[in-house]
Amino acid sequence: MDLDALFEEARRAASLAYAPYSEFRVGAALLSNDGVVFSGCNVENRSYGLTICAERSALVSAVSKGKRSFTALVIVTPDSAEPVGPCGACRQVLSEFMPADALVCFEDGAGGRITTTMGALLPWDSLHRK
Ligand code: THU
Repeated sequence: MDLDALFEEARRAASLAYAPYSEFRVGAALLSNDGVVFSGCNVENRSYGLTICAERSALVSAVSKGKRSFTALVIVTPDSAEPVGPCGACRQVLSEFMPADALVCFEDGAGGRITTTMGALLPWDSLHRK
């Protein structure tokens, strides 16, 4: 699996974030189980609550192209000093399309990384039970 390509796509997506309210840019890149990369960025709104996270932006883009399963997700937050994982709402939405063993990696602005799995981020998910 070419994770480097995913990190590059996620960084590029973060540079396109629309985040004038938080000034916190997020980029995400998802790898479909047939090897295609889809990216997304956070898109904020002046109503705040309608903000769309980078992870859901990437996921909706991929599902809109017919992809239904993903083996890896990379999240890049160039404005943070620590790697940032997906919010609770995104974990729930991602779990619909990512198996428990799918890789999830986060990278901060200095290149620090954390690598984990979908199952670790959302344990006891009913969709993942055999
Ligand atoms: N954000 C994401 O896009 N993904 C995350 O995992 C954490 C938070 C966005 C939402 C908002 O635009 C900004 O980051 C600050 O919370």
